[in-house]
Amino acid sequence: MSNSEKPLLAALGGETRRIPPLWLMRQAGRYLPEYRKMRAGAESFLDFCYSPAAAAEVTLQPIRRFGFDAAILFSDILVIPDALGQKVSFESGEGPRLEPLEKPEDLLRLSSAVDLERLAPVFETIDRVKGELPPQTAFIGFCGAPWTVASYMIAGRGVADQAPARLFAYRYPAAFARLIELLTQASIAYLLRQIEAGVEVVQIFDSWAGSLPPSEFEHWVVAPIAKIIAGVRAKGSETKVIAFVRGAGAHLATLVERLGADGYGLDTAADPAWCCKAAGGRAALQGNLDPLALLAGGEALEREVDSVLRGFKDHPHIFNLGHGVLQHTPIENVERLLKLVRG
Ligand code: CP3
Repeated sequence: MSNSEKPLLAALGGETRRIPPLWLMRQAGRYLPEYRKMRAGAESFLDFCYSPAAAAEVTLQPIRRFGFDAAILFSDILVIPDALGQKVSFESGEGPRLEPLEKPEDLLRLSSAVDLERLAPVFETIDRVKGELPPQTAFIGFCGAPWTVASYMIAGRGVADQAPARLFAYRYPAAFARLIELLTQASIAYLLRQIEAGVEVVQIFDSWAGSLPPSEFEHWVVAPIAKIIAGVRAKGSETKVIAFVRGAGAHLATLVERLGADGYGLDTAADPAWCCKAAGGRAALQGNLDPLALLAGGEALEREVDSVLRGFKDHPHIFNLGHGVLQHTPIENVERLLKLVRG
């Protein structure tokens, strides 16, 4: 099947279809019983990410169960700090823990470049998955954007308003700029290797971009993501790029102009009509069903799905959530979503 017959790639190429392609952020994860079963057999979450057979299997689980239009590589954005020499662990029920970077000298603990050898299992996972996908299913690789990854590296954990990273950036702008540049270069190298291994689309997750004032947003979000996309494109690759700059819907016109991505992920708060106008057909839009509406199901789900479908109907659109699938989402609600979107 040629690429234009993969619905996700067609949308990213600018096509508008009556039935949009559909995949979900965090579609491989704890809401799936088959995921929980495999996860229970792993030593730690990072070990699990670095076990190609297991990671390939859980990448494929949601494709087999639901037939989504794309598979997303099973891994995590925090493998990059790990491959830069920072200690990373995941405490069950508590999220990630890293050895925090509190002052400029702490950056000396990091390697000067990412160790791609450490990430070899991720590339092997990609190699295993690509031969197993149905012909119409696109394969998405990903990385975290420098700002979001840096926010975890500095705080050492997820923090509601990213205050530690924002303070670090105000107090030590030169050191923070070095960290962002290190992550930018690491992300380019990492994505290029994912592409070489076989992904057709890469998504850059800036989950915490919404906490910055405009000038900081320009320095730590827009400029680094633009550089990553240019770096990926410089190799002449035809890979499609999706930028998910969460909480930054109001900046969409600027993002479309400056980043040059093929698609933009929108969070739940973004208004479809306004976003279609801001994007003006220059890029596909992805989103943005409320993950809580999917968890709730029933009439709320029907109403919200309908409003997303209608909101994007005249624009190249990829149906997705505004953020990841929540752990307690019933499987039946995901099945219902597929029926509502595909008719
Ligand atoms: O299905 C997929 O989307 C593919 C795999 C994937 C995971 N994490 C698996 C995961 C992807 C694309 C991510 C991205 C990621 N990781 C982001 C950006 C997207 C977003 O949700 O904002 C961020 C911020 C992280 C960092 C991270 N990883 C956190 C904060 C946590 C703990 C909170 C949580 O949801 O559990 C993780 C752990 C994690 N990453 C799990 C999974 C399936 C759960 C861990 C487990 O099974 O024990």
